[in-house]
Amino acid sequence: MNLTVIGTGYVGLVSGTCFSEMGNAVTCIDVDTKKIEDLQQGIIPIYEPGLEAMVARNIKNKTLYFSVDLSSHLEKCDIAFIAVGTPMGEDGSADLKYVLQVAQEIGQHMTHSLIVVNKSTVPVGTADEVKATIQKELDKRKLTLDFHVVSNPEFLKEGDAINDFMKPDRVVVGADNDEAAQKMRTLYSPFFRSSADRLIQMDVRSAEMTKYVANAMLATKISFMNEIANICELVGADVNKVRIGIGSDSRIGYSFIYPGSGYGGSCFPKDVKALKRTAEQHGYTARLITSVEDVNDSQKLVIAHKVTKKFGADLRGKTFAVWGLAFKPETDDMREAPSIYVIKDLVERGAKIQAYDPKAMKEAAHFYLKDLEGVSYHNSKYETLQNADAMILLTEWKEFRSPDFEELKTQLKSPVIFDGRNQYNDVLMKEKGFEYYQIGKNN
Ligand code: UDX
Repeated sequence: MNLTVIGTGYVGLVSGTCFSEMGNAVTCIDVDTKKIEDLQQGIIPIYEPGLEAMVARNIKNKTLYFSVDLSSHLEKCDIAFIAVGTPMGEDGSADLKYVLQVAQEIGQHMTHSLIVVNKSTVPVGTADEVKATIQKELDKRKLTLDFHVVSNPEFLKEGDAINDFMKPDRVVVGADNDEAAQKMRTLYSPFFRSSADRLIQMDVRSAEMTKYVANAMLATKISFMNEIANICELVGADVNKVRIGIGSDSRIGYSFIYPGSGYGGSCFPKDVKALKRTAEQHGYTARLITSVEDVNDSQKLVIAHKVTKKFGADLRGKTFAVWGLAFKPETDDMREAPSIYVIKDLVERGAKIQAYDPKAMKEAAHFYLKDLEGVSYHNSKYETLQNADAMILLTEWKEFRSPDFEELKTQLKSPVIFDGRNQYNDVLMKEKGFEYYQIGKNN
C-alpha cells in the first residue's frame, strides 16, 4: 500500500519505518525541514534500539521516503496517518491544534477517496472533529470525496518500540465503516503472520478511549505499588517480597508492579492528566485517577527524602553521584524523568551532583537540567564516584545492575547507596559493607 505518515516524532517515525519494513511504500512528512533533511540521510533524532538500521535499510530499498510536502504525496496515498504531537494544554487536556492543522491540510489537498487514521493520542471525540475539519475544507472546494476517519492508537514502549510494532500484543482499530476497517486489517495482517490475528475492531470512540485507559491502568498499578512500598516501610515489611507474594496470583500478575521513583515519560503523566480532564469536562470527578497522579508526584521525591534524612536538609558541601537520568532504560528521553525532580531538590539544598547516563546526558544538559548549577556530567559510572558522599541510582540501566562494588567502596567517601529502583539485594549489600537505602524497605 501507499502510505503517508504525518509527523516524524516517536510514534510517526517508528510506525512509518515498520510499515515500510513490511514492503509498503511510505512517505513520512514533517514541517521541520532540518529534521527531514537529516532523516533523508538516515540521521534519526532519537535513540531507539534498532530504529536507525531499519530506517537506513528502507531508504536503501526505496520503501521509505521523507518529505516536507504533504500535498503532492496525498495524490498517490491509500491511507494517511496523523501522528503529530498532542502536547499537554494549560488545563491538562491534550492540545489538538497540530492534529486539526493536519486535518485541514488534508481537506485542502486530497484528490481522491482516502482513509485518514488518527495515530496520535487524542481524546474521545477527536475523530469526529478531524472528520468535520476535512469536510469543511472539501465543502470550500465544492468537492464530494469519500473519506473515513479511523482511530488506531499506538501502544509502543520506548526502548522496545520496534519489537512492539513488529510483533504487537494487539492492534486496536476503531472504524465506523466496514470497508475502512477491512483495509486496516489488510495493512496489519503481515504483522500477525507468526501469531493469531490480533486486530481488535471496535467503534471509533471506544478505540480512542482504549489508549487512555490502558495507560491510566498501567499508571495505577505503579502508583498503587509505590503507595504500598511507602506503607511497607512504615510497618517494617519488605515490598520486594510483597511484590512476589502478590504477583504469583495469576489474577494480579508480575508485570508493572515494580515500586520505584515514580513513572515518567511522554505518555503516562500526560495521558493520566488528559483522562482526568476529559472526565471533568463531562462533569465527573475522577477520584482514583487524581490519586494516581498525586502519589506519583510525591513518589518522585521519596529518594531525595531518604538522602536528607541521612545527611540533613542542608546539603552544602555534599556531593552525590547519580547513576541514570533517563525516565527509564534504553532511551534518551528525559520527559518527566524522576531524576529531574531529585537532582533539582538536592541542588537547591546546596549539593553538587556528578551524573552519568549511557544515553540521556545530552538531553539533560541541553534542556532539562540546563540552568542548574552544580551538576557535572561524566564519561562513566565510576567517574561520578570520586569524592562523592553517596551514590544515587535513578534509572535501572543494565550496566548498573552488577557493578564493581569494590570500586564503589574505594571511590565513595563512605559506602552509601540510595537505590530508587531496587536493583540490588539488600542482604548482599550489607555483607559487602554498604549502607543501602531502597524503596519500600527500611534498612
Ligand atoms: C508507555 C506504555 O507502556 C505504552 O504502551 C504507551 O504507548 C506509552 O506509554 P513508555 O512511556 O515508553 O510506554 O514506558 P513504560 O515502559 O511503560 O514505563 C513507563 C514508566 O513507568 C517508566 O517511568 C517506568 O520506570 C515506570 N514503571 C514501569 C515503574 O515504575 N514500575 C513498573 O513496574 C513499570
